[in-house]
Amino acid sequence: MAKKTVAIVGSYRKGGTVDQLVDAVLEGAGEQGAETKKIYLIDQQIEYCHNCRGCTQTPGEERGRCTIEDDMAGILAQLDSADAVVLASPVNFYNVTAVFRTFLERLVGCACWPWGAKAPKPRTKVLRRKAVLIASSAAPGFLLPIATGAPSSAARGGNVFRCASRGEALGWIGGAEREAAALGEVVAARAEDR
Ligand SMILES: Cc1cc2nc3c(=O)[nH]c(=O)nc-3n(C[C@H](O)[C@H](O)[C@H](O)COP(=O)(O)O)c2cc1C
Repeated sequence: MAKKTVAIVGSYRKGGTVDQLVDAVLEGAGEQGAETKKIYLIDQQIEYCHNCRGCTQTPGEERGRCTIEDDMAGILAQLDSADAVVLASPVNFYNVTAVFRTFLERLVGCACWPWGAKAPKPRTKVLRRKAVLIASSAAPGFLLPIATGAPSSAARGGNVFRCASRGEALGWIGGAEREAAALGEVVAARAEDR
């Protein structure tokens, strides 16, 4: 059982679809005895990554230090302490929201990417925590992984945090499903299927 579950909410609407889904997941985790925390990205000051790549230069397992002083360090500290993370965003313009992408870009220091190396490498191969990925859209939920980049963007965020991939498809919710049933029931039914 995950002892601490931290949710990152990339929606612009508190109480909206994504927020309700996150609540359903956190409620379930809480019922299992987990400590839960929800972070609304819109309430945080998160600057754009400057692409200085300083944080990616240091070798080793420890994440490189970012020189930008904003709320990102506090968010990362919360995620570091989590046994499970919920990464949640609506689909805006075929992908995660701008604030969620800004957050994802700031995760770059979780990888090691020295100058001269073609691509970033994970700092460790150990999978440390579970992830639940949530996205909602106007389009039907089954289209989300096919027609939008939101699920893969959220999954890459999970990979960066060395999350095991289990549970990924729990929360793709589209317009039709929203009308068909209460969101909590949809999520609970999918969770039971696993
Ligand atoms: C600016 C904007 C862009 C959107 N782009 C898409 C899209 O590309 N595909 C889609 O299916 N839904 C799109 N939507 C609909 C939202 O994904 C949908 O309403 C979502 O459930 C909102 O989540 P929320 O209730 O947490 O805000 C868009 C909505 C807005 C406001």
